[in-house]
Amino acid sequence: MSNDYLYTKIFRMSNIEKLKKTYLKKLNADDLDLIIALVIKKGRSFVISHPEYTLSEYQSSKINLLIKRRVNNEPYAYLNGKKEFYGLNFFVNKNTLIPRPETELMVDNAINILNNKETYKNTALIDMGTGSGCIIIALADYIYHKSPIKYFTKIKKMYAIDISLPALAIAKKNATLHKLNTKIKFLKGNLLEPIIDHVRYLNPLKNSNLHLIITANLPYLTYSQFKKAPSIQSEPKIALLAGQDGLKYYKKLFKQIKFLRRINKNLRLSLLCEIDSGQLKKIKTIIKKKIPQINLQIKKDLRGLDRLIIIEF
Ligand SMILES: C[S@@+](CC[C@H](N)C(=O)[O-])C[C@H]1O[C@@H](n2cnc3c(N)ncnc32)[C@H](O)[C@@H]1O
Repeated sequence: MSNDYLYTKIFRMSNIEKLKKTYLKKLNADDLDLIIALVIKKGRSFVISHPEYTLSEYQSSKINLLIKRRVNNEPYAYLNGKKEFYGLNFFVNKNTLIPRPETELMVDNAINILNNKETYKNTALIDMGTGSGCIIIALADYIYHKSPIKYFTKIKKMYAIDISLPALAIAKKNATLHKLNTKIKFLKGNLLEPIIDHVRYLNPLKNSNLHLIITANLPYLTYSQFKKAPSIQSEPKIALLAGQDGLKYYKKLFKQIKFLRRINKNLRLSLLCEIDSGQLKKIKTIIKKKIPQINLQIKKDLRGLDRLIIIEF
């Protein structure tokens, strides 16, 4: 008997209890409860406390499909289409990386920089490799909805850049969800190119007192790191892979920063880059070579791993 036939047969006759008995060998109880809760549109506690609940045929086949996807290691966030980050909900799909809790460190540190009295009045924020838009939207939410400080005179522009158009579509949807779509400009392009190349974006960069705050969670994995992690196989490769040493994009970004510094000697910069802790030594050497005379700080994530590099000049 084929597996498909078995799935269908069990679901036709099943209630929640039977279903759990069938699938608990393949999937852990939490995942199973979450999938059932998602489909029947109830909380997890309802699923746990109502083993007698009878599923409709439609619900059964939907659960069946989602279980198959989860068994194949697809993250729950893609089944659900949502992920929480920095206390906000974000739409995600197969074109966007699922926001990670460790990336909240980047938002915390960008807020610290914004709150610093020395941050220029004339500040532009750029989120490089925006994906779902989680970083720039969390920052804009803080600036426009939560902060007691009135930033309106301080923030000149907020940009979110990504090479992937489908990812940008989700980021825009998220900005609309959080009523921040008029505050952030979404641009398709290769790293800082849309900012450097387009004349209409060049003017603000020439402004003598501009403080550019760039958040960058660019791809930073090598192919062998990617291959060894089954949980990330469904996520877009374009969001994860970065050449032989995982530093392909950061190297290019540092080159672009060097160029920006050359075209605007008065430019002040705060660049925040998320990294893999194993890259620290190499990336520090590259930074010192490409953009000398900078202030460099390293921040650890909650697991004690070197996760964030902050470069300032
Ligand atoms: C690690 S994901 C980060 C997504 C999001 N910022 C987050 O923290 O969840 C990297 C993102 O960089 C984008 N990307 C890859 N290469 C790029 C490039 N050359 N220029 C701009 N964005 C790029 C990918 O499409 C992806 O959305």
